[in-house]
Amino acid sequence: MQPLSQVAGDSLATLPDAVDPLALSLNENPFTPLPTVRSALIAATGSVNRYPEFLPESLRRLIAGHIGVAEDQVVVGPGATGVAMQLLHAVTAPGDRIAMAAPTFDGYPIFARMARLQPIMVPLDEHGCHDLDALAEAAADAKVVVLCRPHNPTGTVESAPAVERFLAAVPSDTIVLLDEAYIEFVAPAFRLDGLSLIQRYPNVLVLRTFSKAYGLAGLRIGYGFGSAELTALLWRMQLPFGMDCTGLVAVAASYDAERELRRRIRVITAQRRYLRMRLRAMGVYVTEGHANFVYLPPARKPWREVFDPAGLRVRHYTDGGVRITVGDRISTRAVLAAVAEWR
Ligand SMILES: Cc1ncc(COP(=O)(O)O)c(C=O)c1O
Repeated sequence: MQPLSQVAGDSLATLPDAVDPLALSLNENPFTPLPTVRSALIAATGSVNRYPEFLPESLRRLIAGHIGVAEDQVVVGPGATGVAMQLLHAVTAPGDRIAMAAPTFDGYPIFARMARLQPIMVPLDEHGCHDLDALAEAAADAKVVVLCRPHNPTGTVESAPAVERFLAAVPSDTIVLLDEAYIEFVAPAFRLDGLSLIQRYPNVLVLRTFSKAYGLAGLRIGYGFGSAELTALLWRMQLPFGMDCTGLVAVAASYDAERELRRRIRVITAQRRYLRMRLRAMGVYVTEGHANFVYLPPARKPWREVFDPAGLRVRHYTDGGVRITVGDRISTRAVLAAVAEWR
């Protein structure tokens, strides 16, 4: 079996160890912020006596320039969570329906409740993938339909042609929230061309976040992009002075450090491959995931009995499945040791 250092390719030695390596339930980035990002943040604290911009125009300009869309096609918010809520406030009324997979990212059922929407839950298929025909059918009765790609908790991605067929099947007055919170962990060959999609489907909002690959979960910065007519509806929901002044600084410093960030992403995806390979070698079924976590369906022995004694905080599901964030070397070793003990 190849050691992790070979699978990772890059030198693992230069990366900081995670603080709290057993915290593997929220799909955070295990690595502490880049020194340049941290310095920029410290410098920014010198002016927190001042309000940030009334509306986060500079942040949206920066992001728009980076991803290559017009400024008015971008909205920002406190995490992808904030942007998703802006969307629901902008386009739904209490009692409307929202269609989503079951299970899905824990946030979506909560957001639906907060916006007083009726959720239509569409079970995943036996491979942990969306049942896109059923989801499109549910979307016909809904104001909003959510498609997470990669999906949380399974990490699966549907093929580009399958997504295209899905989008074509969804009525044009249903808004599609295409959640790409984990896109940076997806190999380029599996990514969608979001820019082309939003041109052809004005009802699609692509949702992204700086919480995962960029490692800025504590700062709460997310964004969405879509047709200017759709983003205008969300921009109207932008809370005045709602984004603090550190977000702009952290995003600018992160964009300047893209090379280093990409290296960290490579290390995480290499660890994902390694973890999956070792788990499979121990006879554990692991879903083919594309994000910074692995998903294990229910097994003979409850996963709680495997991971709790090892002090591993992972996300357990009611059906017995478990989602484990890919952390650093220490986390990976701890997960493998817990499973090895059980085998
Ligand atoms: C699929 C998905 N979407 C959105 C989010 C929310 O991210 P944020 O921290 O930007 O609010 C998460 C967080 O785990 C997620 O898994």
